[in-house]
Amino acid sequence: MKTYLVTGGAGFIGSNFIKYMLKKYEDIKIINVDQLTYAGNLENLKDIEKNPQYNFVKANICDQRTFENIFKENVIDYIVNFAAESHVDRSIHHPHIFVQTNILGTINLLNCAKNAWETKNGFLEGKRFLQISTDEVYGSLGNTGYFIESTPLDPHSPYASSKASADLMVKAYYDTYKMPITITRCSNNYGPFQFPEKLIPLIIHNTLNKKRLPIYGDGLNVRDWIYVEDHCKAIDLVIKKGKLGHVYNIGSHNEKTNIDVVKTIIQYIHKKVDPSVSEELIQYVKDRKGHDRRYAIDPSKINDQLGWYPETNFKVGIQKTIQWYLDNTTWLEHMSSGAYQDYYKKIYGNLGGQDE
Ligand SMILES: NC(=O)c1ccc[n+]([C@@H]2O[C@H](COP(=O)([O-])OP(=O)(O)OC[C@H]3O[C@@H](n4cnc5c(N)ncnc54)[C@H](O)[C@@H]3O)[C@@H](O)[C@H]2O)c1
Repeated sequence: MKTYLVTGGAGFIGSNFIKYMLKKYEDIKIINVDQLTYAGNLENLKDIEKNPQYNFVKANICDQRTFENIFKENVIDYIVNFAAESHVDRSIHHPHIFVQTNILGTINLLNCAKNAWETKNGFLEGKRFLQISTDEVYGSLGNTGYFIESTPLDPHSPYASSKASADLMVKAYYDTYKMPITITRCSNNYGPFQFPEKLIPLIIHNTLNKKRLPIYGDGLNVRDWIYVEDHCKAIDLVIKKGKLGHVYNIGSHNEKTNIDVVKTIIQYIHKKVDPSVSEELIQYVKDRKGHDRRYAIDPSKINDQLGWYPETNFKVGIQKTIQWYLDNTTWLEHMSSGAYQDYYKKIYGNLGGQDE
């Protein structure tokens, strides 16, 4: 029985990953360590909380003692590090939190794993540290071209820079100590349980509430969207078959402008829920500082070497996703209220932030 130490598993991708894995495998154990920041919510894991294969620990990934104890009390085979501050807008206003969690937290995990896994004769067999990274570390593309794994890192936002810094530290642990690591860099995820500060759930929430739909700049920034379950499948494969020390880009070749995504959501809600909803809700707002124009992933390496291909195309995935939020409006309203609203009013007035 393999034991996975998953960090940040109460967030969007982490919670989808844990549920995907527990559904697929009966012979694994998962320990989820999450600090439960504004973005983490145990509601996301309600259906598996009593599963005997699953355990939750509330802790900060910067907390050395907690992780030393976890390693002492359990035989950890794999670490999957999702825990991060993940919102670009917040990073523009509070960069230091991103340095703290995304960089220092990752180093703490690397050190604790190294101490537990390293012997006089090198690292124990079969161990693996997987760093969940992002395509944003590569910077911005023009109208053509794709990010490949050897594209030079050129992050722009404090979020992307903190993720790139963490990637470099993870790589350093491989280059220096031969620690068994891999890194995945995925494009924009969408699907159930995404915190409604991000474009898709934010637009669904505002459309349902007939609130303005804030669009940065001209709305023509391009993001490469992947359905979250496809990302989870890729992570599972990289843990099992990924080559140590390697980076794998993950993407679905689903490039869309922000305004196209917003119009798709409006059309769906107009048709299925409220015919009075229209594009009149759209409001263009001042562009985000340093807003990257286009991201697009070339996933050839993971396609060719590991045989991973996405299974959900955007047309199907976006409909499933919108319908999930429509079926879970209590969750959506809960996540869109309270401290989160106060924060956003302070920074953006009544419009709310967006994008990745
Ligand atoms: N969402 C995307 O489109 C996307 C794309 C590529 C990569 N990623 C990466 O995937 C990972 C997960 O992203 P997400 O969208 O699920 O993020 P999220 O913001 O929804 O979840 C992050 C989780 O980490 C937890 N967390 C934050 N700081 C912590 C700390 N100091 N200690 C312990 N837990 C902490 C939060 O409570 C939350 O549960 C991140 O590393 C992100 O950089 C995200």
